[in-house]
Amino acid sequence: MDLPIYFDYNASTPCFPEVVEAILPYFTSAFGNASSIHHPYGWLAEEAVETARERVATLIGAEASEIVFTSGATEAINLGIKGIAQMADSGKNHLITIATEHKAVLDTLEGLTDQGFELTCLPVNAEGEVSLDQLKSSFRENTLLVVAMLANNETGNLHPINAMAALAKNHGAIFLTDAVQAVGKIPVDVKELGVDLLALSGHKMYAPKGVGALYIRKGLPKIKLKAQITGGGQERGRRSGTLNVPGIVGLGEAAVRCLDDLQEEGQRLLNLRNQIEKALLQIKGSQLNGSSQRLPHVCNVSFNNISGKSLMIRVNKKIAISSGAACSSISDKPSHVLTAMGLDQATAMATLRVSLGRFTTAADIEFAIEYISGVVKDLRTLAS
Ligand SMILES: Cc1ncc(COP(=O)(O)O)c(C=O)c1O
Repeated sequence: MDLPIYFDYNASTPCFPEVVEAILPYFTSAFGNASSIHHPYGWLAEEAVETARERVATLIGAEASEIVFTSGATEAINLGIKGIAQMADSGKNHLITIATEHKAVLDTLEGLTDQGFELTCLPVNAEGEVSLDQLKSSFRENTLLVVAMLANNETGNLHPINAMAALAKNHGAIFLTDAVQAVGKIPVDVKELGVDLLALSGHKMYAPKGVGALYIRKGLPKIKLKAQITGGGQERGRRSGTLNVPGIVGLGEAAVRCLDDLQEEGQRLLNLRNQIEKALLQIKGSQLNGSSQRLPHVCNVSFNNISGKSLMIRVNKKIAISSGAACSSISDKPSHVLTAMGLDQATAMATLRVSLGRFTTAADIEFAIEYISGVVKDLRTLAS
């Protein structure tokens, strides 16, 4: 099959070839169970897991003992949120989040409202920014947890996590950040951010799908996290289940590779992103969705007065791209992120989320500019 050029790195990334190479022995010769403590098969697997744990920790400025491996970020987020909620004192039942969070966060928090928790969902402005004053005035005596993403998966917007986490700390609340789109793309340091919990995902950073991690700050005050998957007591009782050794090895290898040239790659993608963004914004009736503080490899552009469905069908003939998160593509509904930013449904649907990555070339960008401009022009001509 002749595949289109890939412009959807926020949905998923290919594995680094070196990641695949590093993983392979853990399917064959070194296939052991990391919990088999009596023979070398187990020791090899365990050693590989612990090396990967160090590597992932280094990428985010954490200690190895603060990393719990999971099946991905959705599980890490569930573990963080529910794990805290289920251990909280009965009076502490107020949660705060932002309207533009990923569904893994929103649905998990909303689920807790059935169990007596109260949820404050902060709005955003037209640029997708949250007000720190509004966050500050949302705290209550009983606020338990604040959840906010470091980088938005649709617009690339960066939230002021450091300031938000400091506010949470001042109000005695725990802070969880969903850093899925930021880790491996921009410098992320849990100490600088001041967060208690952080979720990350393998397949967004050139490692396989089905692996992720939750950072749990050592000495997280008062509350112990309740495990959501119980059984063999792996991950020091915080996440049972035989460890996905190949996936974990891949995550560790990807962490090393991402860290290796984080700044240079970020700058390269920023230049390419700026080029395509500028060109798309020259198309009549286009608008940028997002703030000035964004990830270097993402831009989100809407086009007025064209059919979102036709835009997607036409563009995807040659360019693999989404209008928003993969989950909103499945439901065929306008993005909750863009509607929270005030876009009407039709404009939210007629949107392209351009997300670049390691294998995006200057030639890809030039082709995409020409091609997308042509498609929008055609659709406008058809509509007139
Ligand atoms: C911001 C954000 N959070 C969470 C997730 C869920 O990650 P995973 O696919 O590892 O469960 C995603 C994936 O789309 C995401 O973009």
